[in-house]
Amino acid sequence: MRIVMIGTGYVGLVSGACFSDFGHEVVCVDKDAGKIDRLLKGEMPIYEPGLDTLVARNVEAGRLSFTLSLEEAMPGADAVFIAVGTPSRRGDGHADLSYVYAAAEEVAKLIGDYVVVVTKSTVPVGTGAEVEKIIREARPDLVPGDNFSVASNPEFLREGAAISDFKRPDRVVVGAEDEKARDVMRELYRPLFINETPILFTGRTTSELTKYAANAFLATKITFINEIADICEKVGADVQQVAKGIGLDGRIGKKFLHAGPGYGGSCFPKDTLALARTAQSVGAPTRIVEAVVEINDARKRSMAARIADAAGGSLKGKTVAVLGLTFKPNTDDMRDSPALDIVPALQKMGATVKAHDPEGMHEAKKHLPDLTYCSGPYEALEGADAAVLVTEWDAYRALDMDRVSKLMASPVLVDLRNVYTPQIMREAGFTYRSIGRS
Ligand SMILES: NC(=O)c1ccc[n+]([C@@H]2O[C@H](COP(=O)([O-])OP(=O)(O)OC[C@H]3O[C@@H](n4cnc5c(N)ncnc54)[C@H](O)[C@@H]3O)[C@@H](O)[C@H]2O)c1
Repeated sequence: MRIVMIGTGYVGLVSGACFSDFGHEVVCVDKDAGKIDRLLKGEMPIYEPGLDTLVARNVEAGRLSFTLSLEEAMPGADAVFIAVGTPSRRGDGHADLSYVYAAAEEVAKLIGDYVVVVTKSTVPVGTGAEVEKIIREARPDLVPGDNFSVASNPEFLREGAAISDFKRPDRVVVGAEDEKARDVMRELYRPLFINETPILFTGRTTSELTKYAANAFLATKITFINEIADICEKVGADVQQVAKGIGLDGRIGKKFLHAGPGYGGSCFPKDTLALARTAQSVGAPTRIVEAVVEINDARKRSMAARIADAAGGSLKGKTVAVLGLTFKPNTDDMRDSPALDIVPALQKMGATVKAHDPEGMHEAKKHLPDLTYCSGPYEALEGADAAVLVTEWDAYRALDMDRVSKLMASPVLVDLRNVYTPQIMREAGFTYRSIGRS
């Protein structure tokens, strides 16, 4: 099959490369000349483990290519995926669909033979119908279902594990309104039949809502355990044991029960907000998701006070070492990372911040210009009055605590990811605070 992937970001580039690895012929298109330029040179515009080798292998095999020109890419395509950004619309929290609609308009002009236009971006209910309308208005000569179809195929991959998630997903969801589109989508995902991956065919609207419901549920699970962690701190219980105790119940499941500083990233914050807005606008408000959004925002904002408290109350004139800036390990993505709330709040309290992140510092510098970036964790910790572990990168999991204690001006560690053991840290002479563990 021939595939065009519009958008070579975290989703488009991974999806395009994986589809080509399945044996399809994929052309990835982006408007960002810098990204295409780097890809043509064999450089990755994002950090995702394993992506460079996957891309190189498929470019070499002649199945994967990159271009700025949709016009060049479109002829002969069986499917055109729209994998552009859908950020929060400034002001109201609805998803900003301008990139999706702009891509649909560009596609419309270039449709020749039958093609399925697939929204892979996370889009609110009704977007597929709107994309179809845009194409019909731009091209009255085309008949939906005959000359083109519009399908929904939301993506569930996680950054940091994106390739295995794409190639071995728990399920694939396809929303389509006609058999012709379903046939193309079935053929595209045929390589997954070997693993018996469930492929769920639904209507377009159901598929669109499924993606938001999945993200809202996961964000709710995280928020739930974060609130349980707060109770644990008050009563002297251990949130990790509570999480284990409930997670072993098959009805609950053990994933997404890690208490921390609040969820961030490019999806949960904007998608929970967008779902809440959609729900309000259709007259079926979801109070649970609204509460999750509010609780999570407040939690991220409250972390700096926790750090100040561990450091003796005031951060004026003190130096804080921040370990980890990205919203989770194994990505360079800084979008809505808790660090974006924590670092400015620490600075506002009078602290000087030194930070390290294995892959995120280039991206972080765009958002947090006024801090000292260090080449490693020990450099960040040197002379610090307090340290905070924000992202649980492997590089921070086995720090030499003797060395850390000698390097720091005072051994205070706030571990927002519960990487270390309270008793061991206390025995090592640290003032140690974690989440939901006394
Ligand atoms: N990042 C994730 O982990 C993840 C997971 C699942 C779903 N999603 C969803 O996938 C979508 C894309 O997310 P992302 O993180 O890959 O975004 P991104 O910002 O990394 O990438 C989007 C890309 O689209 C390009 N683009 C925009 N308009 C274009 C156009 N008209 N023609 C060509 N290129 C265009 C941009 O230049 C950019 O490179 C979003 O809706 C997101 O919610 C993301």
